[in-house]
Amino acid sequence: MYLLSLFLALALRPLLVFATWGYTDDGSNYVIDVGSKLVFKVSKTNGDINSIVYRGTEYQGYSGKNSHIQSGLGRSTVTIASHTSPANLLMVTITYGTLVHYIVARSGQNDIYLLTNKGDASVAALRFILRLKPNIFPHDLSTPDFYDNVGATVEASDVVRNSNGYTKSKHYQGSNYGRVMDFDYVGKTTGKVGVWLIRSNHEKASGGPNVAEDLYEILFYSMCHTDPERWGLHGPYVLSFTDGDTPKKELFARNPNWSWFDTLGIKGWVADSARGYVAGIGIANMKSGHTYTVALSNADYQYWGVAASGRGAYTIKRVVPGTYKLTVYKGEYGVYTTSVSVNAGSATALHTITPDSDPSDVAAIWRIVHSINNPQPTYMHPSDPRLSSWGPEDFTVGKTAISSFPGYMWKDVNNDHLVYFKLTAGQIASAKTIRIGITEAYANGRPTIAVNGWTSPLPSASTQGSTRSLTVGTYRGNNHIYSFTVPASAFLTDVTQWNILKITIISGSGNTGYLSAGISIDCVDLY
Ligand SMILES: *[C@@H]1O[C@H](CO)[C@@H](O)[C@H](O)[C@H]1NC(C)=O
Repeated sequence: MYLLSLFLALALRPLLVFATWGYTDDGSNYVIDVGSKLVFKVSKTNGDINSIVYRGTEYQGYSGKNSHIQSGLGRSTVTIASHTSPANLLMVTITYGTLVHYIVARSGQNDIYLLTNKGDASVAALRFILRLKPNIFPHDLSTPDFYDNVGATVEASDVVRNSNGYTKSKHYQGSNYGRVMDFDYVGKTTGKVGVWLIRSNHEKASGGPNVAEDLYEILFYSMCHTDPERWGLHGPYVLSFTDGDTPKKELFARNPNWSWFDTLGIKGWVADSARGYVAGIGIANMKSGHTYTVALSNADYQYWGVAASGRGAYTIKRVVPGTYKLTVYKGEYGVYTTSVSVNAGSATALHTITPDSDPSDVAAIWRIVHSINNPQPTYMHPSDPRLSSWGPEDFTVGKTAISSFPGYMWKDVNNDHLVYFKLTAGQIASAKTIRIGITEAYANGRPTIAVNGWTSPLPSASTQGSTRSLTVGTYRGNNHIYSFTVPASAFLTDVTQWNILKITIISGSGNTGYLSAGISIDCVDLY
């Protein structure tokens, strides 16, 4: 009996262990076996990935939904080609109108490489979505009961609340993720199986949210975008399976060797040899406590490089040739712009840059800096009970903790915030300037001020992205500084008394509550 079962085991094992590299056509799908632990299917009708089996377990799909661009492309032309040079690989090409999407597998790799060329606006293609079977990977531990206990929608149906009042939305970034530039991948692991979506270099993208029960690669995000939508090739971005570990670093977009894509005829592909780079020797007058980033942007591409601390040297690699607007960011605030040209195969060398528009170069009498690193509702709705009250609470310069100044103000939630301050006899002898720096505005919200009995002229709205913003997890819009000249006559002549600054959000637009006109505040100062 023992011998017989041993014999059977030996006879069966090779079938399970030695997967064969290659593909078959099952009539409906191209069935691709990477020759390791991964077998996946691509629909010949519409290019959907409708099965992903890793080590014998199906991970793809729920409620009959597949993994694909947008919510599926519809009937497409789907072809497959096999290459033996520069590597053994299979490439599925899906053409739908002006959109071409590629799915590439390499022999022996448990990775699916994805590339998406968006030709124009005629095809909606804002994302690739990987739909994972539920209850295999762990949920967000901060809200363990959330997925089984969705109570009510909060504003649109895309923001929901459970019975604890905890809010959740596909728009909110998980708390472990920050800006696009801060992380290489999203994903989940059970400890034994990890599934990861490794991001593209985002040279064609415009930011976006990250992870939910589904994994997304965002190609363009229509809410609150400040960039143009860029046409052309996104990717590769990589769906990678592991035996529980985090994904291989060589797949990260920040340091890839994609030379094996160069000869595959991918529409819009630009080889490294046809790219250039920017090398700057430094940035002068950097303020401590801030990371400086140098970014390039034009209508077709965007890139960035982080400046080293100390002298601020930076490089921006693998840039497609062209003319770019260069912006030096102190944190997330642009303090210098210029224009640079990048040529193929060479470096554009830049001398030391001295930022010319850093608001903190002005010596202020007082300055309330709302640190955007404080807890912010980037991963919950501003009504969420885990956040502290938005106020209004009065703020007394020199007494109140800076952290209690509201990061957001809405016309219908916490309007008419008061700031108490004293000035010396010398200071009230001349007019002063009060600045309110905002990072985002919703529904044309903008601040107007009163100082004691004096009221400012009403400023006009800043230019911001479309649809919602503050309630869908972002305070990042177009930074704007409102500057008010306050006449000397506005200040109290009794210097022992507190002057009262009132900040009031105005707008002719907006709804009620958190959908009323609002702003996200970075800084308020007086000089
Ligand atoms: C990139 O990979 C190719 C092989 O695919 C290799 O020939 C080349 O040397 C690599 N380049 C770098 C910079 O490592």
